[in-house]
Amino acid sequence: PRPQRHLDEIPVAAPPFGRAIVQHPAQGFRRQDPHQIARPIDPLQPFAFPCRGVWAKPGPESIQPPRCTPRNPPEENPMKFFIDTADVDAIRELHDLGMVDGVTTNPSLILKSGRDILEVTKEICSFVKGPVSAEVVSLKADEMLAEGRKLAAIAPNIAVKVPLTWDGLKACKVLSGEGFMVNVTLCFSANQALIAAKAGATFISPFIGRLDDINLDGLDLIGDIRTIYDNYDFKTQILAASIRTANHVKDCAMIGADVVTAPPNVIKALASHVLTDKGLDQFTKDWAKTGQKIL
Ligand code: E4P
Repeated sequence: PRPQRHLDEIPVAAPPFGRAIVQHPAQGFRRQDPHQIARPIDPLQPFAFPCRGVWAKPGPESIQPPRCTPRNPPEENPMKFFIDTADVDAIRELHDLGMVDGVTTNPSLILKSGRDILEVTKEICSFVKGPVSAEVVSLKADEMLAEGRKLAAIAPNIAVKVPLTWDGLKACKVLSGEGFMVNVTLCFSANQALIAAKAGATFISPFIGRLDDINLDGLDLIGDIRTIYDNYDFKTQILAASIRTANHVKDCAMIGADVVTAPPNVIKALASHVLTDKGLDQFTKDWAKTGQKIL
């Protein structure tokens, strides 16, 4: 059973190692979440406290333990990677490595692919079994509904993508009521994420990169939505979008986004490190000097 989230109802354990300082991963220790559940800190893992949105650092000034309960234990619900492209070859390459839990597209990505939306979406769904987002383009709820139903008929794993407008929310409510997955896109505030959850969204897509582009903090938004959804156990999944860098992916993982959708090159960049390249170069040179062979 889910513990109560109100502070006065939480039996706070004696602080084993001191005050929890809650950290936003990208910006240092500063955010204190009063809605988490008491849990001892492991002093050996000060930066690896495995709670969504919460990073605890024990210290001598500490007086209060972190309050944390993972909403979705990782073993039951690991972080998902969606691929943000309509490039079928790129999706296939990552799919063969087991890196593709789903796909997201949008009108700009369809344009970039040079393909027909129905045809390319069908091809993606022929081998991707997870959710494949296909976006409506009308601005009126009635027309969004017609488009959404047509897109959803492509395959059972289609998530109909609707914009975060009032009409989009109306379409979301109806489509989710009809049993379709709905991805509410173009989310730029926690308020929008809250109302999308109320409208029954399966996924909310906050756009990190586009917020960063205008000197706002996209990761802050992910953290805020995580807190709100966890406070009330909303089932809407946070699908962090507009991901521009590998560190965006890592930061979303630390905050506890359910899904990240990223272009193929960003997914591949997760594997890169200059010291890996340097170390491998050295090993290769030294191995050549041994004159040995394994095969
Ligand atoms: C999300 O679903 C969008 O397709 C995408 O992430 C937008 O990313 P961009 O801001 O890089 O265009």
